Amino acid sequence: MSEFLNGFKRTHTCGALRGTDIGKQVRIVGWVQDYRNLGGFLFLVVRDRYGITQVHIDANSPLFEQASKIRAEWVIGVAGEVISRGSNINKNLPTGEIEIEAKELRIFNRAETTPFAIHDECDAAELMRLKYRYLDLRRPVLNKNIVMRSKITGIIRRVLESKDFLDLETPILGKSTPEGARDYLVPSRVQPGKFYALPQSPQLFKQLYMVSGFDRYYQIARCFRDEDLRLDRQPEFTQIDMEMSFIEPDDIQNVCEDMIATIFKEILNIDLPRPFKRIKWDEAMDRFGVDAPDIRFGMELNDITEILRGSECKLFQTVFAEKSATVRAIAVPASVKLSRKDIEQSLCDVAKTYGAKTLIWTKFANGALDAGIAKQLTDAEKQAIIDMLKPEEGGTILMVADKLNIARNALGRVRKEIAVRNNWVPKKMTKLEDVGLVWVTDFPMFEWSDEDNRWYAMHHPFTSPRSCDWPAFEAGDLGKVYAQAYDLVLNGIELGGGSIRIHNIDVQKKVFAALGIGDEEARAKFSFLLDALAFGAPPHGGLAFGLDRMVMLLAGADSLRDVIAFPKTNKATDMMTEAPSTVDDKQLDELYIKTVAPEE
Ligand code: AMO
Repeated sequence: MSEFLNGFKRTHTCGALRGTDIGKQVRIVGWVQDYRNLGGFLFLVVRDRYGITQVHIDANSPLFEQASKIRAEWVIGVAGEVISRGSNINKNLPTGEIEIEAKELRIFNRAETTPFAIHDECDAAELMRLKYRYLDLRRPVLNKNIVMRSKITGIIRRVLESKDFLDLETPILGKSTPEGARDYLVPSRVQPGKFYALPQSPQLFKQLYMVSGFDRYYQIARCFRDEDLRLDRQPEFTQIDMEMSFIEPDDIQNVCEDMIATIFKEILNIDLPRPFKRIKWDEAMDRFGVDAPDIRFGMELNDITEILRGSECKLFQTVFAEKSATVRAIAVPASVKLSRKDIEQSLCDVAKTYGAKTLIWTKFANGALDAGIAKQLTDAEKQAIIDMLKPEEGGTILMVADKLNIARNALGRVRKEIAVRNNWVPKKMTKLEDVGLVWVTDFPMFEWSDEDNRWYAMHHPFTSPRSCDWPAFEAGDLGKVYAQAYDLVLNGIELGGGSIRIHNIDVQKKVFAALGIGDEEARAKFSFLLDALAFGAPPHGGLAFGLDRMVMLLAGADSLRDVIAFPKTNKATDMMTEAPSTVDDKQLDELYIKTVAPEE
């Protein structure tokens, strides 16, 4: 009982028919979402990616017996007449005015009982859904996300091609350059003991395209990073990767704004005001504590270090014994009811996750600071805090006292957590106020790691310092050097990042040296880049967006897994194909590889 089409072509999709089609003879095909046998007649609800359509079969129809055997997820075709549902109209459904009175039924395939029901509301465990991902993708919620993803890439191609960008490919088998995340390695069979690396991004190749004169490059490029996974990170993800020659940051930012504004208009029908907001990294860190700020709400950070520097309070004295200690505070409005338990347990845990020792608090009641740390502060200190933070009557003040980076970051995360818990920041964007888009610019060029006792490039080693910071760079004052680097942040998530690149070989060598990469190592790893810079590289720059993150935010989804058709779990497993897997010894022998199992 499984037929080929044999000429049974649909006239309409399952989302197409309306009241105006009543009386037409039509044919639809799809999967049976529901069936209900009510004795005197039965209903089949047929689904395809465009929608669902109800089919009606009377008990006295010659098709009734055949139809009553049909079960969920069978693949069928129905020919018949479009009729009115009369008084049973379903206004919530685009096809809710009509149904099809079946005159012919085709059964293209049967289906076993699926491990979970194919409905939007599905309480099956995610691992189960990932194992049967092709079924999960039939669920309209997921199906819509994947369709949206395709629409978004379509818009990107249209906008960029209208601006003379060329869609150019870059190799997947490349060279391992262990800067940034860990590489995925691919062993070479013909050169035993040697490995390719899968690209973490097409960064260097796109720069080489500029050296070759291609001028405007883009690629919807798959990237691979072997890093710890989170809801907004996958080991295999897609970048919208762009590069342009003879430009300054504004030029590439404008192209991106055109692209993003078109996506918002066509996908969400939201008109974004231009130009997008811009703030410098220093300001973002000061006001929001993080470099990917959610600017949709206030409750900004205040620097109360100087108020408390001479405090008699033991806690602050201990903190100030450390170099670069600072105290940052936020005033939480009275509408947010925070019990002692909320603060000292759950919010404090958030602060601790980001390295803070504790979350300090006090309340503002009857015009004075009261409870928590207040009893250990002098009247003058309390008044100065009130003057600076201007708390609401009944509100709460939260503080983190720690090294600069920790104090800002931990309090910034607490700030966001309060917003999420109080529904200040909707996941789904339906109007302009739901959209918090901001360019964060002028990142520090270098970042010091206490752990490794060395400087790292905050963006990547090919990013150019600002020319005004050249003297500081020459003087070796690396903490004072800022980069021509910019991120686009949407609702507190980094959507993309880029920079103006170094196009001068001497500057590139000096930046490598500052990162502890000597001449010899630089030649071993990047000789092709250094050579290319020596042969007339134009001034150039670019940016890459995370496509998966963009779709996740536009779809209002919780996880990248909801917008990637075949994603990996937190352990980088593909539940469906069971990758990664062991391989035959013969395959390993050919590659001259022996594996050593980790100790239990
Ligand atoms: P960067 O490393 O900032 O820059 O990456 C650019 C964007 O890619 C997305 N992204 C990810 N998405 C999902 N899972 C991941 N593991 C993941 N890692 C990154 C983010 C991020 O903003 N070559 C530079 C770009 C450039 O300078 O032009 C680069 O790769 O949205």
